[in-house]
Amino acid sequence: MANISIGVVGAGLIGRKHIMKIREHPDFDLVGIADVNSEGVSAQYPGVPVLRDYREMLDVARPQAVIIASPNQIHAEIGIECARRGVDFLMEKPVTDTLAAASALLGEVRRNNVRTLVGHHRRHHEQVKAVRRYIHDNVIGNLVGVSAIWAAYKPDKYFEIAPWRTQPGGGPILINLIHEIDFLRYTTGEIVAVSATSSNRQRNFPVEDTAGALMEFEGGCIGTFFASDSAVSPWTTEQGVGEAAEFPFSGESSYRFIGSQGSLEFPSLVHWSQADGDQNWNKPVISQRLFASFVDPYVAQLDHFRDVVCGTEQSLQTVEDGARTLIATLAVAEAAQTANRIDLRERYEAVAAGSHSNTTRKAS
Ligand SMILES: NC(=O)c1ccc[n+]([C@@H]2O[C@H](COP(=O)([O-])OP(=O)(O)OC[C@H]3O[C@@H](n4cnc5c(N)ncnc54)[C@H](O)[C@@H]3O)[C@@H](O)[C@H]2O)c1
Repeated sequence: MANISIGVVGAGLIGRKHIMKIREHPDFDLVGIADVNSEGVSAQYPGVPVLRDYREMLDVARPQAVIIASPNQIHAEIGIECARRGVDFLMEKPVTDTLAAASALLGEVRRNNVRTLVGHHRRHHEQVKAVRRYIHDNVIGNLVGVSAIWAAYKPDKYFEIAPWRTQPGGGPILINLIHEIDFLRYTTGEIVAVSATSSNRQRNFPVEDTAGALMEFEGGCIGTFFASDSAVSPWTTEQGVGEAAEFPFSGESSYRFIGSQGSLEFPSLVHWSQADGDQNWNKPVISQRLFASFVDPYVAQLDHFRDVVCGTEQSLQTVEDGARTLIATLAVAEAAQTANRIDLRERYEAVAAGSHSNTTRKAS
């Protein structure tokens, strides 16, 4: 098999991580980078063509595939340009900033039949695949509910260096909860409705610092989620899994999946059940630790993208699926603002059909 020629648009925080993984990967050749800061980026990657304009990079380097790691606001236009040229792409999350943009991108992807993958990298963790498998194989019986927390304390500097993070769209719902919602959709099933409440009591910024969401899943499972970026806890997926050095490992579980025959903690994969299948609150509930290996999710994501581009695997997350995660996340923010229960089914259908809902709030 010939190597896949690949370009990267946006060599910022995550773009540079992708470039590092691409250069270490035996099946990809990095043929070009596009970044508006072409001089600075060029100095970091001697020998690789770096262009200011992504269209020029596509013209000059002619990559077979592209990773789009630009700011959210231009995800759609870059994806549309790639699709029109027949270039397969991996789009960083969120798939786009608005539902209208997601709908336009999806239309162009379909017209040109390009292969896509959205960069919700958590889907590539072995622990995530394992918990999904255990739930789907009914290891804990019928899934009755899920209870989850994402709570960490972001230091003042985080807001000082990027004041947009203090404004609506820059808070824990659209920055952090979007990953958790994608994880829940992948492991538990489709979210069909959400209700939520939020507060800015800790920091007094225009954006929320804390939120609570109630999620209804297809099949009837009920989920509750507490999210805060102004509370100290070991309960975030980042800390539990230990996927990045900047978020020190806790190994603690922030998720509890609760079924008719047992429960499962994530990411520790502790399985709780009653001996001899005897379901009775007067009898002890015992635990056993299941096992899943740890892989670098960005490398696993790149391996999967290779297989998607080669046509040997179905994409784990197409643009349409990424748009569903965006719909559910935007709806949590909207529900917290309006105190309404929001049914998502019509919105999923509208984006899939190429028209979009009235909800045009931006994801940051
Ligand atoms: N999956 C993850 O773990 C993860 C982590 C961080 C960020 N992200 C996502 O990745 C994307 C980038 O985030 P980031 O934190 O790396 O941002 P960043 O600001 O660090 O990097 C963005 C880069 O894009 C460049 N850029 C801006 N406009 C451009 C244009 N028109 N053409 C080409 N390049 C342009 C900037 O110069 C910068 O180098 C966002 O969508 C973000 O949500 C994903």
